[in-house]
Amino acid sequence: MSNIGSYQKRLLNFNWSLAEKELEYHDGDIINIGWYCSDRICLQGKGDRIALHFENFAGKERKYTFNDIRLASNTVGTLLTNLGLQNRDRICLFMDRVPELYFSFLGILKIGAVAQPLFSAFGDESLYVRLEDAQTRAIITQSKYLPKIRRIRDKLPFLEYIIVLDHTKTKNLENKEYAFYLEEIPAVEKMEIFPTKSESPSVLHYTSGTTGQPKGVQHVHYSLISQYLTTKWVLDLQDDDIYWCTADPGWVTGTSYGIIGPWSLGITQCVLDAGFSAQAWYRFIEKYKISMWYSSPTAIRSLMKAGNELAMSYDLSSLRHLASIGEPLNPEAVIWSQRVFGKPFHDTYWQTETGSIMISNFPGMKIKPGSMGKPFPGITGVILDQERFEPIKEAGKIGLIAFRPGWPAMMRGYCNNQEIYKKKFVGRWYLTGDKGSIDNEGYFWFVGRDDDIINTGGHLVSPFEVESALLEYPAIGESAVVSKPDEVNMEVVKAFITLKPGFLFNSELELDIMNFIRKRLSSLAMPQEIEYMDKLPRTRSGKIMRRLLHAKEWGEDIGDISTLEND
Ligand code: WT7
Repeated sequence: MSNIGSYQKRLLNFNWSLAEKELEYHDGDIINIGWYCSDRICLQGKGDRIALHFENFAGKERKYTFNDIRLASNTVGTLLTNLGLQNRDRICLFMDRVPELYFSFLGILKIGAVAQPLFSAFGDESLYVRLEDAQTRAIITQSKYLPKIRRIRDKLPFLEYIIVLDHTKTKNLENKEYAFYLEEIPAVEKMEIFPTKSESPSVLHYTSGTTGQPKGVQHVHYSLISQYLTTKWVLDLQDDDIYWCTADPGWVTGTSYGIIGPWSLGITQCVLDAGFSAQAWYRFIEKYKISMWYSSPTAIRSLMKAGNELAMSYDLSSLRHLASIGEPLNPEAVIWSQRVFGKPFHDTYWQTETGSIMISNFPGMKIKPGSMGKPFPGITGVILDQERFEPIKEAGKIGLIAFRPGWPAMMRGYCNNQEIYKKKFVGRWYLTGDKGSIDNEGYFWFVGRDDDIINTGGHLVSPFEVESALLEYPAIGESAVVSKPDEVNMEVVKAFITLKPGFLFNSELELDIMNFIRKRLSSLAMPQEIEYMDKLPRTRSGKIMRRLLHAKEWGEDIGDISTLEND
């Protein structure tokens, strides 16, 4: 039996106070995510349960109980206070997915400070821009990243503390640098947790920026209410589950559902701090008997590329429930997963700004491959007419995906950018910047980012639809579709593709692909050109950067590429 039971029944009289009750929170109470994810679980008698199974790239394992993470986060929190840091200070986490990152995240929240997680693979400039924008007061890191920070710290007058939490002794510390080895300092049994309230700032996330400049999205402690309930009803985490969220906490999925969701429910989770390889991932699932797996379309497509035989050679029978986030999940991927794992991936849709899942395929609900599913109870989701900003009643008509603000995890603002924040709201609606449609059964279908949609001779073409058709062709590994200039139609469709191993791109193959997709697409949506690439440009969080391909076609400036994955 799934946690949500009947989606239809949950819609009736839904109220977020349901989550408040389960978390024993009343309006006006103290609410601190750090406490909820560790101390409270221990108070419930689950202190001895494993909170974290960790494995690094070299196969070294470490495991921690909920009591261990309670103590370790107390220790980090106390250490930060002793250094002189305090509530509302912004403290950056610049680390690999090591256990210290997780302890520090909770420790920062416990002292009422703001956690600003940044992906450790960021280069100097990307790091600098985000620390400067947030006026970050301290950065917690590993010794291997010190050189990067040293190169930019003189340009950062607000940065007062560079704190190294590591296993190797850091020698030759310089000005403003402090180093600690957690296992050598006595664990702090009791600490005074800062009495944060619902609107106290908690996490500051920089968006991945597939379009435009990176923006700091500010969240508050009350977000816990949404994150807790969506984890329970969408990811369906149950007491004996072993959970794996493959996202890095540098991105919102890695905090909302890679820390806060599972731990506020007292669930065991696994973390693999290593790059992607299909073998390593399957081995990890087999070894830890992962039962709930939250991953991304990019990862799923890479697994598809690696072939069915590989998947079949591992015992993956522990998998009970699968979900996906981050990009459109192609129907082909849902069908593949059903074939190979015996279970479909359940697509979920949300944003850094929304803080928690907005639309999803709920456990037990009929899945329509290619659809994002339906809004979470309590969420009013609509498709707005582009000119009048009024909800479109007609099924299947494309418009702007928008939500009625007011759910607990909604962002409270962009850092230093009130103007852009205001532009996200029109009338009573929050605009996601995405386009989609709703079918006659209430399912949402993603069409594209506002600025990705191709307008060919006045007809709107969804890049996602064309990409999905291309992916059905056996030799194609990945695809990205953008517009290119055209004298007659203003814009026409152009496709970029990568091939699976063993295939060669030539005009014969191109013709065969064209013939194949012609049967699946309207003539308007047919690409005028297919270009082969070794690899598609993508952000470090795995999203294909269509913006870059688009700029190339239109001879435009490529803009900010600090989030481009370039290794
Ligand atoms: C944008 C948000 C929330 C964590 C990951 C991304 C796209 C996200 C889906 C989906 C189609 C999706 C949208 C959205 N997106 N999920 N299931 N189907 N598109 O967070 O970096 O803030 O990006 O990702 O365009 O607006 P983000």
